[in-house]
Amino acid sequence: MTDRKATLSVGDKSIELPVYSGTVGPDVIDVRGLVQEGVFTYDPGFVSTAACESAITYIDGAKGVLLHRGYPIDQLAEQSDYLEVCYLLLNGELPTPEENKRFHDTIKNHTMLHDQMRNFFHGFRRDAHPMAIMCGVVGALSAFYHDQMDTSDPRQREITAHRLIAKMPTIAAWCYKYSIGQPFMYPRNDLDYAENFLHMMFGVPCEDYKPSPTLAKAMDKIFLLHADHEQNASTSTVRLAGSTGANPYACIASGIAALWGPAHGGANEAVLDMLAEIGDEKNIEKFIAKAKDKDDPFRLMGFGHRVYKNFDPRAKVMRETAHEVLAELGLEDDPLLKIAQRLEKIALEDDYFVERKLYPNVDFYSGIILKAIGIPTSMFTVIFALSRTIGWFSHWNEMVSGNYRIGRPRQLYTGEEKRDYPTKK
Ligand code: SDX
Repeated sequence: MTDRKATLSVGDKSIELPVYSGTVGPDVIDVRGLVQEGVFTYDPGFVSTAACESAITYIDGAKGVLLHRGYPIDQLAEQSDYLEVCYLLLNGELPTPEENKRFHDTIKNHTMLHDQMRNFFHGFRRDAHPMAIMCGVVGALSAFYHDQMDTSDPRQREITAHRLIAKMPTIAAWCYKYSIGQPFMYPRNDLDYAENFLHMMFGVPCEDYKPSPTLAKAMDKIFLLHADHEQNASTSTVRLAGSTGANPYACIASGIAALWGPAHGGANEAVLDMLAEIGDEKNIEKFIAKAKDKDDPFRLMGFGHRVYKNFDPRAKVMRETAHEVLAELGLEDDPLLKIAQRLEKIALEDDYFVERKLYPNVDFYSGIILKAIGIPTSMFTVIFALSRTIGWFSHWNEMVSGNYRIGRPRQLYTGEEKRDYPTKK
C-alpha cells in the first residue's frame, strides 16, 4: 500500500483519500472515511468497486488475461489438471509431485456422502431442477460436520475444503441420477476425478462403465476453466455470507444460489436453449436483431461480460476443446455447433457488439461440449457450481484467515420522508 492521496471536492469541502496500488491492475481509492464526511459512494452493480483485497485470481478485461496465482489460464488448461489447480488456488503455490499425489489421494478418500444424505434427495420431486437439489443438499452438509466448523482453525478449514472438493461430483451426479430415476452410483477410488464423475453420471450397477479418455479430459478441462474468476457475483455472495461468520457449507450454498441466474452461471444452459430456439442458420439475423432491440428482453446468451472487453481467454480454450470432442465423437457437423460458429462470426462483425465489446464468454462453448458428452442442459449449471466450489472456498478461506468485517453496504434513500400515522377518526 502506498501513501498516495486522491482529493475529492464535496461542496466547499476538499476530502483527501488514500490511494493503494496492487501488484498489477487498477489502483484503488480507499473511501471508507467518507461516512465520517456524511457522504456515501454510489455504485449499483459494483462496476467500479473493489470490495476486498485478494491474491487468488487476476483478470485484465481489456487484454483478455486470466491468471490463477499468477499462472495464465491457457497454460494451466494445457499442462495442469483440475485437482492441481484446486491445490494452487487454495494454497497459493503449485504442489510438489509428492504434495500432488497426497492431495489426489486425500480427495479420493472424501468422495462418499453420509448415507443419511440420500434421504434429502428423496424429498424432492423427480422433476426438480438439479440446482434446487444441489443448493439444498450442500447447505445440509453443515448438519453432518458440526464437529469441524471452527472457522478459526486452519486444519478444520482444510478438511472442509477437501470434503467439498471431493463430495461435489458425487452430489452433482446424484442430482442427475435422481432426476432420471436411476440408482445412485458410488464413487470409485480407481478412477481419477473427471472419470469418477462421468462414471457416477452414466454408469449403472448392471455393467462396468469406463469413460473415454477424451471425454474425461474434456470434462476435467471444463472443471478447470470454471474453477475461479475473481469477485464475480457468486463469489462475492460467498464472501458476504462468510463475513457474518456463517459456516462454509452455508456460504457455498449461497454461492450456488447466486450462480443459478441466467445472467451468471445459468448462461451455459441458456446458450443451448437459445441455439435450439434459433434452430437454423437462416434465423440468426432475426435473433441478432432481437438482441439489439432495447424493447426486447432477449440477449445473446454466452456473449458479453462485466470485465472482459476482449475475448474471454476461457472461451478460446473452450472453442478448441469443443472441436476436439465433436471430432472424437464424429459430430463435427453438429447443427448447434454450426449455428454457434455462424452466430459468433456474425456477432463479432456487427457494430452493435463491436462497439459494446461483447465477445463470446466462457459459457458460449461450454454448453456445446457438455451436450456432446451427453450431459442434459439442466445439469450445466450444476457442473459450473461443482467446478467453482474451489474458487468460492478459496476466497472464503482467504477472507476468514485474515482481518475482515461484516459486509454491510449503504444506500441512496429515495423513499418517503418521515410522516405520522393517520390518527383513527
Ligand atoms: C459468467 O463475473 C464473472 O466473472 C462471471 C463469469 C464467472 O466465471 O464467474 O465469467 C461467468 O457469468 C459469464 C457471463 C454469462 N452471462 C451471459 O452470457 C448472459 C448474457 N450476457 C449479459 O447478460 C451481460 O453481458 C452480462 C450480464 C454478462 C454483463 O452485463 P453488464 O456488465 O451489466 O453489461 P450491461 O448489461 O450493462 O451491457 C452493456 C450494453 C447494454 O447495451 P446499452 O445499454 O449500452 O445499449 O451491452 C448490451 C446491453 O444491452 N449487452 C448485450 C449483451 N450483453 C450486454 N446485448 C445483447 N446481448 C448480450 N449478451
